[in-house]
Amino acid sequence: MIEIEALEITGPIPAETLRRLLRIVDAERRGIVERFRFPEDAQRSLLADILARAVIARRLRRPAADIVFIREPGRKPRLARAGNFDFNLSHAGRWVICVSGFTPVGVDVERIGGLGWEDAKSTLSTKEQERLDPSRVPEWETDLALSWTIKESYLKALGEGWSVLPSELTVSAADEREIRLFRSGRLVRDAFFGAYALDAEHCLAVCALAAPPPEAVTVRTLEDVEIVCREEFFDDTPYENR
Ligand SMILES: CC(C)(COP(=O)(O)OP(=O)(O)OC[C@H]1O[C@@H](n2cnc3c(N)ncnc32)[C@H](O)[C@@H]1OP(=O)(O)O)[C@@H](O)C(=O)NCCC(=O)NCCS
Repeated sequence: MIEIEALEITGPIPAETLRRLLRIVDAERRGIVERFRFPEDAQRSLLADILARAVIARRLRRPAADIVFIREPGRKPRLARAGNFDFNLSHAGRWVICVSGFTPVGVDVERIGGLGWEDAKSTLSTKEQERLDPSRVPEWETDLALSWTIKESYLKALGEGWSVLPSELTVSAADEREIRLFRSGRLVRDAFFGAYALDAEHCLAVCALAAPPPEAVTVRTLEDVEIVCREEFFDDTPYENR
């Protein structure tokens, strides 16, 4: 079963909570978090790791402390010893999302708007450019966000990064449950999509290979995910010393 879990950042996170969360993650993530210039980016990166640990601990019945992420430059982060279980993360604005399942999955959340039509055009296929009308704001911005997140969720499910130009992909969506993707004009048959309205400012899309994603997103609080992790981390020992 594929699950989508969303963590909403509803306000500033107290420094003490952040310090506690930093002790849960491994040294590599701590380094990544500490190198961010903007605190919002650092928080999203940290919370993505915490959310992933909480999801994986629950789904694989594995202590959060035993979860080892394998991160290689340009490649999809994966888990050691996880069989066909897959997960994927995305974060933007006030949202951090984790999709997981026993088939390859990908997720993308983006803020809607903020891109001018000229820049947007370069990410759209010819068909999409014909369909979107730049004089209709904010409709075209919402359509662009849907198109972009679907494309990125597909590439993230494959784990390829941007090995394909976004303009080589065309998204056609009759509605949020009937999304189809064309790659160089050919229908992609083995990928299933879902798009979700998180709020008025963000667009979320999920791709799963071989099985359709669920209809709903489960929204978690920071407390929910921290509890799952804290049960394994009550001793306050940094990750690498355990
Ligand atoms: C995957 C990618 C498309 C996501 O970019 P983004 O929209 O900025 O960020 P998102 O928030 O949606 O996703 C980030 C998460 O995707 C995951 N991710 C990273 N690389 C991934 C890949 N190749 N496939 C799938 N997921 C990937 C990570 O978990 C990352 O979060 P984390 O770093 O906090 O763990 C982008 O990082 C990418 O293209 N990476 C591949 C490398 C590459 O082609 N680099 C180009 C250098 S110019």
